[in-house]
Amino acid sequence: MKHFLSTEEISKEELEKLLVLAFEISKNPKKFKKALDDKIVATFFFEPSTRTRLSFESAILRVGAKVISTENANTSSSAAKSESIEDTARMLSGYADAFVMRNGDDDSAHRAARVSTIPVINGGSGSAQHPSQSLLDAFTIFKHKGRLDNLKICVLGDLKKGRTANSLVRLLSKFEGLQVFSFAPKGCEFNCEIPHTVVKSFDEIPHDVDVLYQTRFQRERHDGKNAVLPIIDKKVMERFSKDTLLLHPLPRNDEISTDVDDDPRALYFEQAHNGVFARMAILITLLGGKK
Ligand code: CP
Repeated sequence: MKHFLSTEEISKEELEKLLVLAFEISKNPKKFKKALDDKIVATFFFEPSTRTRLSFESAILRVGAKVISTENANTSSSAAKSESIEDTARMLSGYADAFVMRNGDDDSAHRAARVSTIPVINGGSGSAQHPSQSLLDAFTIFKHKGRLDNLKICVLGDLKKGRTANSLVRLLSKFEGLQVFSFAPKGCEFNCEIPHTVVKSFDEIPHDVDVLYQTRFQRERHDGKNAVLPIIDKKVMERFSKDTLLLHPLPRNDEISTDVDDDPRALYFEQAHNGVFARMAILITLLGGKK
């Protein structure tokens, strides 16, 4: 694997290897503390982030590498002087051994990868892809379900502009027997070509669905338009099986009520913490770490 750009381009075998490694890391992270101790990784974020940037930086430090970082790249990097993504990628190729980039354009990671001589990791590209999020989502599902085959998942919220559900469904579609339901308001519909059943209420979601994957309204990508998302609260969760997992990539607004946070099925904070293990696995896989 040269880059980590989208869940479409990673094979099932590569995903399985990444998940196995992420599990090994999660059991004993200290074993990997020198895995990349001669490497430098850059994080270059054009869009705001708490989880992706900081968990990648934590992962970089936990595998013994060093990090150089630009946040607010639109204003604090030479992108503010109209430098292109391609020229930025060429520069980073001389300063680091890999870089993680988040950008608002759907094709940004691929544009960077076309000219980069070092691995490019997509930290979120427009409404298209967020592959490291999908890996940590899959890790969390596998940890709690013990399988990725024969999953029944309902994705909810802003499925048009949100990249995480799109990216995750494409990853899970590599496994056998996936059933997908989507529940989104007008203007936020799921336009993914992977077969899915559109539902219009919580009543239409099977009560034994394995995963509810809620997402927020992507206000920043809707040109001032608004939409009322389905809200998951304690009462809604009563409809679902004790084995239904509730995931959310975060940040959340009000689409998951805080009264659900104590429900043992609500995994979103654990899910975010699993990002460190998943991202350590991505870095080691791309940069060839030693234990
Ligand atoms: N889930 C996610 O991408 O969160 P951040 O925007 O905080 O990185």
